[in-house]
Amino acid sequence: MTTIQRIFTVDGKPFFPLGGQTHNSSAYTMEGLEPAWQALSLIGANTAEIPLYWEQVEPKEGQFDWSMLDGLLQAARARDLRLILLWFETWKNGTMKFTPEWVKSNPTRFWRVISSDGQPLGVLSSHCEASFVADRRAFAAMIEYLREHDSAQRTVIAIQIENEPGIIGSDRDYGPEAEQAFQNAVPPPLVQAIADAPDSAATRAWRQHGARTKGTWPELFGREAGEFFTAWRTARYVDGIAQAAKAIYDIPMYTNVWLSENRWRVAGLSYPAGGPTSNTLDIWKWATPHLDLIAPDIYVNNSRLYGEICATYSRDDNALFIPESDRNEAAAINVFSAIAEHNAIGYAPFGIESFLDHQTGSGEALRSEVKPLVESLRCVAAVMPLILRYQGTGKLHAVIQEEFLNEQYLDLGDYLALAIFGNTDRDLARSDFRHYSDETTRGRGLVVQAGERQFYIVGAGYRLVFKKKGSPEAMLSGTQTTDFLVTRLSNYVRVEEGHFGEEGAWVTDRRRGGDESDGGIWAAPDVGVVRVVLGD
Ligand code: DGJ
Repeated sequence: MTTIQRIFTVDGKPFFPLGGQTHNSSAYTMEGLEPAWQALSLIGANTAEIPLYWEQVEPKEGQFDWSMLDGLLQAARARDLRLILLWFETWKNGTMKFTPEWVKSNPTRFWRVISSDGQPLGVLSSHCEASFVADRRAFAAMIEYLREHDSAQRTVIAIQIENEPGIIGSDRDYGPEAEQAFQNAVPPPLVQAIADAPDSAATRAWRQHGARTKGTWPELFGREAGEFFTAWRTARYVDGIAQAAKAIYDIPMYTNVWLSENRWRVAGLSYPAGGPTSNTLDIWKWATPHLDLIAPDIYVNNSRLYGEICATYSRDDNALFIPESDRNEAAAINVFSAIAEHNAIGYAPFGIESFLDHQTGSGEALRSEVKPLVESLRCVAAVMPLILRYQGTGKLHAVIQEEFLNEQYLDLGDYLALAIFGNTDRDLARSDFRHYSDETTRGRGLVVQAGERQFYIVGAGYRLVFKKKGSPEAMLSGTQTTDFLVTRLSNYVRVEEGHFGEEGAWVTDRRRGGDESDGGIWAAPDVGVVRVVLGD
């Protein structure tokens, strides 16, 4: 049994944000957001992730404009959506693109990161106190506005501070102030945390360099010193903003990650140096007591690597929240692994407007490429009460048709089950035309064991066949029986399709029997949830 930190709540109850993130520049005007609202409604989202731009909210220093924030609150409430605000400030993807003109045009006051070859980069330095103070002041002003205008309704359920912080173009800041700090002693609390950690990338590097309790960054960490130093500085900067904001209005705050698991895996080249990547996550966690989460943006398709990343960011002190992901077929499959195997507490694909099929001109249709993911998200939404109840208990199972996999074995307490993928056994499926809706995408879904004999099934492209566990004699009796008959002889007390209504109560929409259960229990996105009660 895993205890899951339910960071997101609505009306005091655990809430799973299942949403979509807009493209970066959609939120300058309310009109610009229209396609996003349409797409969110078409996919059945409960949450919208939308940026706020520093350059827009503070066009002149000290003068704030909250009209967009106000518009967002009204629009979300009118659509019964919750909001996660993305604070594009000092950092956006390791650069400073959304800072106001008065910041961009004053590099003397708001100084930049200097690269190893002495070039100023388009990245604010985390060593610049003026930048930190200005960012914190704007964020605090925003939080105050939210406290005044949203503390009763709590439309905003969380805020992302910065976006993929770190440095693109250098492993660290080589400017004079940064250079001085780099040659100073590593802060004692960090050294202590590293020494106490049983295993961490920082601890391993520190041991390799002699496990010294005092010394400069290069003395303690060698070639990784620059990245660790940047991680610590960046994390402390972000935490300082969170600390000030939480004192004003306490709502969940997190920052997101441009993962290191891509291309050359070189800090500053393949990903922003100093972000909370897998090798610096511990440093970030030690440095950010005021952040509720560190959340990975997962654009990885390969299921093995996807699982590794989920495992890295799902830990006792960090629940897994995926604020950005792909919208392709791989995402349609991997989302089930994130939720069932890694206890994800929220999920959103990126670029939600791109779900709309603009060819139709009406904005009322979804592009065919996103259909598998949308089907998966609908399946997730359909069993949301069960996800919130059974995550972490071992009773929530992902069905995932990995490459070359024809069937998946599931151990379900008193029963075994086989998830048989595809429409290979057409005779058995023939009776129900609805099961042909998804022939090309790999099988995927969730199986929830809600009682010893009671199961809920959602997904696409598979059927489930159960067999009661027993002594070898009992399980082998009648071995002359073909698999065809095993499926026909399954003893169902009840098979039905339905949905969860108000307060999570089960509502039966349609019963299944005869041909519709003889071949196994089909999961298909257009039938909602299937509930099965088994006999002996
Ligand atoms: C990750 C960033 O966090 C998003 O804002 C956006 O830039 C996407 N990458 C684009 O793919």
